[in-house]
Amino acid sequence: MPSEYRLILKHVDQPGYTPDIECYLRHGGYEVLRKALALKPKPLPDGRVLSPQEQLRDEVMRSGLRGRGGAGFSCGLKWSLVDRKSRKPIYLICNADESEPGTFKDRQIIYKDPHQLLEGIIISCYANDVHLAYIYIRGEFVEGAKILERAIAEAKAHGFLGKNILGTGYDLEIYVHRGAGAYICGEETGLIESLEGKRPYPRIKPPYYPAVLGLYQCPTIVNNVETLCAVKHIIAMGGTEYAKLGTPNNTGTRIVSLSGHVKRPGYYEVEVGKVTLRDLIFDPVFGGGLRDGHTLKAIIPGGVSAKVFKAGERVKVPRRTPDGKETFAELDVLDLPYDFDTIAAAGSMSGSGAIIVLDDSADMVEVLANICEFFAHESCGQCTPCREGALWMCKILRRMINGGGRKIDADELLRIADNIAGGRTICAFGDACAWPVLSIVSKFKDEFIARATAAEARRGKQTVDSERGAQCAAEPVSAN
Ligand SMILES: Cc1cc2nc3c(=O)[nH]c(=O)nc-3n(C[C@H](O)[C@H](O)[C@H](O)COP(=O)(O)O)c2cc1C
Ligand code: SF4
Repeated sequence: MPSEYRLILKHVDQPGYTPDIECYLRHGGYEVLRKALALKPKPLPDGRVLSPQEQLRDEVMRSGLRGRGGAGFSCGLKWSLVDRKSRKPIYLICNADESEPGTFKDRQIIYKDPHQLLEGIIISCYANDVHLAYIYIRGEFVEGAKILERAIAEAKAHGFLGKNILGTGYDLEIYVHRGAGAYICGEETGLIESLEGKRPYPRIKPPYYPAVLGLYQCPTIVNNVETLCAVKHIIAMGGTEYAKLGTPNNTGTRIVSLSGHVKRPGYYEVEVGKVTLRDLIFDPVFGGGLRDGHTLKAIIPGGVSAKVFKAGERVKVPRRTPDGKETFAELDVLDLPYDFDTIAAAGSMSGSGAIIVLDDSADMVEVLANICEFFAHESCGQCTPCREGALWMCKILRRMINGGGRKIDADELLRIADNIAGGRTICAFGDACAWPVLSIVSKFKDEFIARATAAEARRGKQTVDSERGAQCAAEPVSAN
């Protein structure tokens, strides 16, 4: 039986659970921080001694935790890449921008359990010798920023933040920084530019990998809200135990934002890879199925940047047999386990964990026009293929939905998207705006052609009618 596994969301939405520190402390809050701060140097059999910070980082590495912000990059590996020899300060930024359409998980933590996030940030900062951290929060989350400010003041008053935390000599300050509502501020290097007070133009990698040249050209860790919360649970239960949750290489739990034409849209925390798309969409514990009288048309499995799956599509993905051998299985997309690797092997991505379900009432030309409006508006404009291409695609689709479609539009959209995708741009936004076009147009091409054919026929008739009208006007009016 598929079911939720509430680790990060354990207390969220429980009756009587409030975002203040007293409530958090009553539920065992900040005990994991105490445990982390109490770690002693650990001698190893080979004579080396592991510092408490190295032990914490080892646990995170052992846990197999992959970032929940979109790319699914290993958290332990990211932390191991931080330049610790530069003698510059190391910063940590919590990415709370959450702007990917379809994603609404981080805000649940921020609004309903802010101290869990702070505890995760403080432990992560301690593990990485960070003394100054920022929470970069999406501009629209005005209330969320206030809740975090309040939580920071409470944590300071209780000695969990600020100078000499819990008498250990460790100092840490956390500041909340509000964005101004631009999607590109969620891209980690755009975010860093914005935090420095500049336009959020993403930086070129290499050389600007945040772990080496991040905020103020210093080593910087950028992690998503959910990732940092997971760190708290990893330290609580140990990396090895955490890695038993989920599936190999896709460990732990993740929060799925489920929206669109399902009966029970919402956020659900599940073990990674232990439930399929079918479970998430149709099981009464999750989406509860489609609206009555409708059939499934498409699934966007990881926010609007992800390539769409068409209902009934069959994909080949690697599978492991019970004796551990790797083989391939051909599956209906609904039977894909929802994890990073399988969704990627099937040609899309699970991204920020946002699943958008579309039933047969969805007009795919309108769906794509809506997505492209978003990307054309949000491109930062640095790279020509992205700036021009996103706008051209948007203009073509606007024209199509306003009755001006042409049969060549579908191929034209594919051509433009093809010229943006494939690493031609400074940041991943370029691919993100091309993928929905490439997948939706190729998988639903008949809808684009049908709309354009009808529009061309209408225009053809109008031309004939107006030419006839002009001819009539030129003829002498009969006396009758
Ligand atoms: C256009 C774009 C927008 C992004 N928006 C977000 C966002 O809102 N929140 C987020 O955590 N990561 C976002 N990311 C991913 C970040 O660049 C970065 O990979 C992430 O914050 C790292 O955290 P993680 O390793 O914990 O996932 C975005 C990436 C791109 C390319
Ligand atoms: S790909 Fe687009 S959003 Fe990213 S830097 Fe280039 S123009 Fe800006």
